[in-house]
Amino acid sequence: MCGIIGYVGPRVALDVAVAGLKRMEYRGYDSAGVAVIVGDHIELRKKAGKIANLEAELAARPIAPTQIAIGHTRWATHGGPTDENAHPHISANGRVALIHNGIIENFATLRQQLEAAGVPFQSKTDTEVAAQLLGREVEAGADLADAMRTVCRLLDGAFTLVALDVTQPGRLVAARRNSPLVVGVGEGENFVASDVAAFIEFTRSAIELGQDQVVDLDRDQVTITDFAGRPAQGKPYEVTWDLSAAEKSGYDWFMRKEIFEQPRAVADTLLGRFTDAGALKLDELHISEGHLRAVDKIIIVACGTAYYAGLVAKYAIEHWTRVACEVEIASEFRYRDPIITGRTLVVTISQSGETADTLMAIRHAREQGARIVAICNTNGSTIPRESDAVIYTHAGPEIGVASTKGFITQLAACYLLGLYLAQIRGTMFGDEIAGVMRELAATPPLIQKVLDTLEPMRDLAKRLAGKESFLFLGRHVGYPIAMEGALKLKEIAYVHAEGFAAGELKHGPIALVDKDVPVFIIVPPMGRDRLHDKVVSNIEEVRARGAHTIVLAEEGDLDVAPHADTLFRLPRVSTILQPLVSIVPLQFFACELATLLGYDVDQPRNLAKSVTVE
Ligand code: AGP
Repeated sequence: MCGIIGYVGPRVALDVAVAGLKRMEYRGYDSAGVAVIVGDHIELRKKAGKIANLEAELAARPIAPTQIAIGHTRWATHGGPTDENAHPHISANGRVALIHNGIIENFATLRQQLEAAGVPFQSKTDTEVAAQLLGREVEAGADLADAMRTVCRLLDGAFTLVALDVTQPGRLVAARRNSPLVVGVGEGENFVASDVAAFIEFTRSAIELGQDQVVDLDRDQVTITDFAGRPAQGKPYEVTWDLSAAEKSGYDWFMRKEIFEQPRAVADTLLGRFTDAGALKLDELHISEGHLRAVDKIIIVACGTAYYAGLVAKYAIEHWTRVACEVEIASEFRYRDPIITGRTLVVTISQSGETADTLMAIRHAREQGARIVAICNTNGSTIPRESDAVIYTHAGPEIGVASTKGFITQLAACYLLGLYLAQIRGTMFGDEIAGVMRELAATPPLIQKVLDTLEPMRDLAKRLAGKESFLFLGRHVGYPIAMEGALKLKEIAYVHAEGFAAGELKHGPIALVDKDVPVFIIVPPMGRDRLHDKVVSNIEEVRARGAHTIVLAEEGDLDVAPHADTLFRLPRVSTILQPLVSIVPLQFFACELATLLGYDVDQPRNLAKSVTVE
């Protein structure tokens, strides 16, 4: 979704803004723009398409160095991705320039009122009403921050706004409701941005703005109030990762780098969760053990890849705790009037912590009396802040739009939560829990082993590069992995791909199978799993219909070899933990195929990294 940056300080502000926009490119966008104050007017440059187009425009029409700038990458919602609709927007009186992330739901009414008052509009965006309103407020004599608060009180929906006023070239004002905004506190300089990646090069001191807050900043001061003007507090924190984490470090794509970071990401997520006495501890779980013992239903809500992590979690949680566990797509959850009581535990999974559908789902669940546990990768983001407890994953910043290390660490955190609940509720013996924990702790080297043997997937991608449709089959925890494998392919290689429960195939989807449809099959561990032989039969069913079968099966599984056109070996792990190793070749295959097809793997078309609109 949109990326926002504002800078005030001694550096060449435009350079800071453009560099910040580049670091937020991963969020997804289709136009970009900047505004600065030069003398008595605002200079604006904005272009549809990539930031390179904006840079070309800046090269063709250069701007003298200034010490204040705002910059924006836009992901179009209201109004197409054109130069006119790109942000910033300047008020008709030329007083203010403004950028926005989110959706102003009542913009049509406000626009009608402004047009009736004779205000001319330049764009088709919802954002421009905020720029016009702000311009009129300051023109009428209001202080810039007061004017921002007045405008915010008029707006419905989700919005992060940042504005500058031509008469105050050392001051920026920003506001936040529902969409993310972080302040970067430097020495003699300050920043606001959607994401710390935008200013990590200059400072690691950040303040996360709360809901409905306005921040007023110059190069030396940061003042936060609520929308009524009362003093308010943000949440200061130090960013623990450095610039290298936000760079490709020699890889062609962030996604590829992130795939290869997975052993470390899982190890970091498991680190320190197990005491010397052999008990599991989850420090951030601030819900009483009594309450967790009384829980009679768990509902997991999440979107996309995080939803598939939730589906894997269901198998583990129900198996280990014997508590009924539902998994629901967040955007559907609150609209079906779910049955929630004070004994329902809602678990939400989100890499970004900002996904609007997920946020709205947990707000609904809280209103109905549920306690919320968030599994999240982004420190200080909105979803963990609005939850009763949080289990942070330690994947580090995930930049590639297609989630990889985010997903695998979500799996690890879900396993931890399941085991913790089993410990508290006494549904597993201590030594059983310790046994699973030992196996879990041993998975990072196994994931590394998969990474070390990916070469056949590279060749396979070359052979299958012309195919238009792929199927992925799995059973039990292999079923969500099949869907996640298909999602990766759809997202970045733009080919049709579907994941099915292998047993469901004969009830319809098998009609899709022919010689032109390669089929990936995830085989459960041999011997130790009762579904193994059934999946082998499923492989034969598709092979008999001419499909090229790509079989992912554990080392030593000799039964599968005769049925596989391509055989990829997985390290031996128990069934329930197998997703930690089986997803890796599927992620890599998608990355390889998309690269071969010439697509932008990190910024696939139409997608945004964190989806902050419903
Ligand atoms: C993953 O590859 C996707 N880009 C997408 O499905 C993502 O997982 C989903 O939008 C949820 O995001 P979140 O984890 O940040 O909430």
